[in-house]
Amino acid sequence: MKVLLSRDEIQARVREMGQQITRDYAGREPHLVCVLKGGCTFLTDLAREIDLPLSLDYMAVSSYGAATKSSGEVRMLKDLDQSLEGRDVLIVEDIVDTGLTLNYLLNLLRTRGPRSMKVASLLSKPSRRLVEIPVDYVGFTIDDLFVVGYGLDYNEKFRNLPHIAVYGA
Ligand code: IMP
Repeated sequence: MKVLLSRDEIQARVREMGQQITRDYAGREPHLVCVLKGGCTFLTDLAREIDLPLSLDYMAVSSYGAATKSSGEVRMLKDLDQSLEGRDVLIVEDIVDTGLTLNYLLNLLRTRGPRSMKVASLLSKPSRRLVEIPVDYVGFTIDDLFVVGYGLDYNEKFRNLPHIAVYGA
């Protein structure tokens, strides 16, 4: 498969994002909410580039099943363990495609009383957006391609690739 983003390119960009987040959250303690499973690889790398005390929590949602097209339906598979009350929440996503998943999550998590809520996504496909949503930190903007690797899957495969590749290419 064709490599879209190499391991080195990803590492360099994740480091920059971590530095930016460190500056923006100086004096605060961000609470990173990881959206499983795709966001997990990005989260573990990003968290280590943030030079601040922080906490982590995980949630799992499903919007795709085994297909490459979004159904628009979001199912909660695993909820957070901790409360968001009064916290500076940073949602960590692998990719924002149509935006439907993130839109659902933002609406849900806003009801739980966070002090602030921002989004960091490694990838964004703006040409596919169906709902406008704020993505505060974007690693890379990509074309309308289906990509795998660095946490992203096709039918649960390829999550372990150290780079990001274009599926089928
Ligand atoms: P959205 O709701 O359409 O924004 O889709 C978000 C979710 O779809 C992501 O968190 C991914 O799990 C999945 N997804 C979207 N595009 C891709 C892709 O190119 N490769 C792998 N998964 C994708």
